Amino acid sequence: MENLEQLQRQALERVEAAENVEALEAARVRALGKKGEITQLMKTLGGLSPDERRAAGQALNRAKDKIAVAIEARRELLEAAALEARLATESIDVTLPARPGIVGRIHPISQTLEELVAIFGEMGFSVAEGPHIEDDFHNFTALNIPPDHPARQEHDTFYMPGDGEDDRKVLRTHTSPVQIRTMQTTEPPIRIIVPGRTFRADHDATHSPMFHQVEGLVIDEATHMGHLKGTLTDFCRAYFGVDDLPLRFRPSFFPFTEPSAEVDIGCSKEGGQLKIGAGSDWLEILGCGMVHPKVLENCGIDSTKYQGYAFGMGIERITMLKYGIPDLRFFYDSDLRWLRHFGFPPLEVPSLVRGM
Ligand code: DAH
Repeated sequence: MENLEQLQRQALERVEAAENVEALEAARVRALGKKGEITQLMKTLGGLSPDERRAAGQALNRAKDKIAVAIEARRELLEAAALEARLATESIDVTLPARPGIVGRIHPISQTLEELVAIFGEMGFSVAEGPHIEDDFHNFTALNIPPDHPARQEHDTFYMPGDGEDDRKVLRTHTSPVQIRTMQTTEPPIRIIVPGRTFRADHDATHSPMFHQVEGLVIDEATHMGHLKGTLTDFCRAYFGVDDLPLRFRPSFFPFTEPSAEVDIGCSKEGGQLKIGAGSDWLEILGCGMVHPKVLENCGIDSTKYQGYAFGMGIERITMLKYGIPDLRFFYDSDLRWLRHFGFPPLEVPSLVRGM
């Protein structure tokens, strides 16, 4: 205990002499560590008489505190000096590119919607919308699909209770009712596309109970089938990005158009691989026709003065074909892995209107 003063003085000298944090830590261990000089002395207290023990204990504690305080002060000094040194030597290169943040992806359906609006917008179409919950009249009757028409069964309709006995509602089975709503409220000329959700009780790899269609409608005094063919040819070539994409208009039937056609695009299915625009196969992509005079009259439009064409197609279908997406069911799973794979970068301006 006699050399406590000396131990303390030497310990404090070592602390003051420490040039860096490591040296300081060595000084601390030598004095206050488990086997340090002061710690060792503490262990000898047990062999002293009670009076001696009290005096020696107090002296040791004072020495310990003094050294600890000196260590803390020295540590702060050394750390501040180290920081100063770093600040003096380091510099920030503000010209480095930023680290990329987490970026979301555009859903393929949204991407196709944007493309549709861009292409048809370029051709002078505007976008119209309508309700998802429809009545029988707009979804069927006004479109020349009377109550017992077989087309009603083919639509696998979701029915909903209406306000009264006989006016059940339907989840619209196609976007065509928006044709009716537009013609009821708009004086021709009319030139619209109607993208939106549609609903049918159907579910497999290429059908979903909720899916999307885009409808087109043109009504004026002079539009004929040549305009229909020209518009859809330009659209298909622009959308699929194939300037000489072959199209085939195949006679068909829809209650709301006369004559009606289905449109096929040329493709190759060789080796189980679909190539659009090449080869000798055909792929059906949409339905169309000249708007039936009865439909015009149902909407209060004079069919002796006005005429026009309409078309409709499935948005999932043309998306799957263009981007090679094999299964429809993953479209609505919100699986990030799927979205990262099939989605589109949000900040890329699509160059869409090709070949127009
Ligand atoms: N509404 C039809 C369907 O859902 C698609 C369609 C075909 C719409 C021909 C039209 C058209 O406007 O002219 O299957």
